[in-house]
Amino acid sequence: MNQKTKLYQSVVTGVGASLPKTIVTNKDLTKRVDTSEEWIVERTGIQERRIASDDETTSSLGAEAAKFALKNAKLENTDIDMIILATATPDNTFPASATVIQSSLGIEKCYAYDMQAVCSGFVFALEAADNAIKTGKVKNALVIGSETFSRILDWNDRGTCVLFGDGAGAVVLSSYEGSDRGILSNHLHSDGRYGDLLYVDGGPSTTTNVGYLRMDGQGVFKHAVKNISSVIEEALDYNNLKVEDIDWFVPHQANIRILESVAKKVGLNEDKIIVTVQKHANTSAASIPLALFDAVQEGKIKKGDLVLLEAMGGGFSWGSTLIRW
Ligand code: UT7
Repeated sequence: MNQKTKLYQSVVTGVGASLPKTIVTNKDLTKRVDTSEEWIVERTGIQERRIASDDETTSSLGAEAAKFALKNAKLENTDIDMIILATATPDNTFPASATVIQSSLGIEKCYAYDMQAVCSGFVFALEAADNAIKTGKVKNALVIGSETFSRILDWNDRGTCVLFGDGAGAVVLSSYEGSDRGILSNHLHSDGRYGDLLYVDGGPSTTTNVGYLRMDGQGVFKHAVKNISSVIEEALDYNNLKVEDIDWFVPHQANIRILESVAKKVGLNEDKIIVTVQKHANTSAASIPLALFDAVQEGKIKKGDLVLLEAMGGGFSWGSTLIRW
């Protein structure tokens, strides 16, 4: 069935966020690793990030963000039929942290699972929820991005530990009939040939340890600009739109220089880009819903706006979601 001819639309009816209490500034990091405030700001745009305390986990942050989104959507927890948690840092190898969130929300009748596409996880999860809604299977879905990357950082590696932060964001997608609002398209890609440019050097089936994040920053940077630009153009072509038709771009927040390079490449007006990397750093799958939350709270994104989300991360995996808000 062609996406464009399906009966139900997946409309965003609520947005929520949750951040760890502790703020860690660049200055704080200079006491821990051989770095400088200037280097971090100039090379990445990051000024500070949140770091989870021992009692803050991927599921606890995700559950808080979900509660906020449900309140925002004016729904009861039990109205939810499906929970997808995008994360690369689950509480445990199993069960899925989505089921931990389900339990803490007191929802008995729904299905819940984790989606692993690292920084692109949120757009991958949106696609899955959108498909379930479009086929009439699900009425209300919670799509959450939650991460505690601080737990998989090598705090002796200055090339990576200054780049990431913890946090969670969530949206409620609700089934509408005959609406021109909702998700208009999803485009997802993966290319496993580049796995060794960004990975974690451990896992249950290899080392049996969790491992630490490893990255060839420059290699990832080049592919990020190319893949993000092409996935934006793919979404525009598919929907017969020009770049100026988009009201807001909500990108995965890895590095301000990536966003600027992409803007230049596709002719994007930088005033239309939602930027939160300065205060959240790279929160992987949580970065897009955290940015969405900010943009909605600040009154930027409004009903009827065309909003284009895009992400690129480990795998590589990358993708876009176009939404009529
Ligand atoms: O979310 C998933 C996707 N991830 C990304 O998109 C990340 C993509 N990559 C990047 O954002 C950038 O490549 C980084 C921010 C990771 C690095 O920036 P860069 O401009 O590519 O720096 P570089 O790796 O080429 O390093 C330049 C210099 C090196 O020193 P030398 O060899 O020139 O003497 C590094 O050792 O900067 C040094 N360096 C640092 N200096 C101070 C690396 N990290 C640091 C640091 N503080 N934290």
